[in-house]
Amino acid sequence: MSDQTTGQAPDGESNVPHPTDEAGIQAAVEAALAAIEAAGDLNELKEARLAHTGEKSALSLANRQIGKLDKSEKAVAGKLVGSARGRVNKALAARTTVLEEAEAARILIEETVDVTAAARRRSVGARHPLSVLQDRVADIFVGMGWEIAEGPEVESEWFNFDALNFKPDHPAREMQDTFFIEPADAHLVLRTHTSPVQVRSMLEREVPVYVLCPGRTFRTDELDATHTPVFHQFEGLAVDKGLTMADLRGTLEHFARQMFGEEAQIRLRPAYFPFTEPSAELDIWHPGAKGGPRWIEWGGCGMVNPNVLRAAGIDPEEYSGFAFGMGIERTLMFRNDVPDMHDMIEGDVRFSQHFGMEI
Ligand code: FA5
Ligand code: MG
Repeated sequence: MSDQTTGQAPDGESNVPHPTDEAGIQAAVEAALAAIEAAGDLNELKEARLAHTGEKSALSLANRQIGKLDKSEKAVAGKLVGSARGRVNKALAARTTVLEEAEAARILIEETVDVTAAARRRSVGARHPLSVLQDRVADIFVGMGWEIAEGPEVESEWFNFDALNFKPDHPAREMQDTFFIEPADAHLVLRTHTSPVQVRSMLEREVPVYVLCPGRTFRTDELDATHTPVFHQFEGLAVDKGLTMADLRGTLEHFARQMFGEEAQIRLRPAYFPFTEPSAELDIWHPGAKGGPRWIEWGGCGMVNPNVLRAAGIDPEEYSGFAFGMGIERTLMFRNDVPDMHDMIEGDVRFSQHFGMEI
């Protein structure tokens, strides 16, 4: 049994019939045919082939003995063993065809594709609306020929405050606003606004300078509906010969209309920032505001303070500049009616999907 079903070669010469032993050869053939018929798949058939036609099979070993026989016996043995092996090989070929067809039929059935089945849905992500809005702002300024500038989020106190004309005792430096980085004598902060990029841009570039600086900013504010400790701003800076408040106004007006539609207007109210003089709060007349058109505070702006130009090595007698800065979260809030900033930072993809790809 074992040599038929497990494919193990018959052990030793004892099972090997003499090549002229008709009954013995017939028995070997029958054993082979039974094993071939019993093979249920191509793997089992391979085992049967090895066991009954392999080098150590009864028929192969009997065949090998023919050479040692007398001439008279050789012809008889050759015919007997030869036809026995032929029958086994024929049975193997036939069984191979049957099993291959069965295999093909099985694959056809098992791997059938049901084209009517409901497809498995893979959820599609979405860009965060803050990123989309930031890109849109950048596109508007690039469209006016401005360049994009960036600076580090871990910033030296000098760029974040001193170069921007904040006096050493300015309240914004105190712990309630600013994340200071230890050790204190390294004088590093998480930048509290994008304005330090103004100074970096003036130092790195040749005048005239027209740059937009979007980026992440940090303040020790508690998270609530209108504040988050990590938020984004974009900063605009233009330094050139003969720039005036009228250029600032014209630029902001154009920008406002690109962002809020042709009916949008802007309004400047006097304000104070250490790095601009004069300074103004910028309000926007938002024609599409929820609850009807109205004035909304949008950001700060002004003419670059001569002290800031000097800190960046630019002669304020020859050049003047204007600058402005707005929060991106706040812009998204009133532009797209998002009542609570929590939604912007929680990372629920449904919030982003709601905006689609264009905002
Ligand atoms: C500034 O940061 C100035 N650097 C802006 C500026 C630039 C003035 C250039 C003049 C010239 P302010 O502290 O007001 O200004 O912040 C600007 C905007 O950042 C705010 O109008 C608001 O939209 C946004 N902002 C401030 N704090 C937060 C916060 N915690 N969460 C979300 N947005 C904030
Ligand atoms: Mg403010």
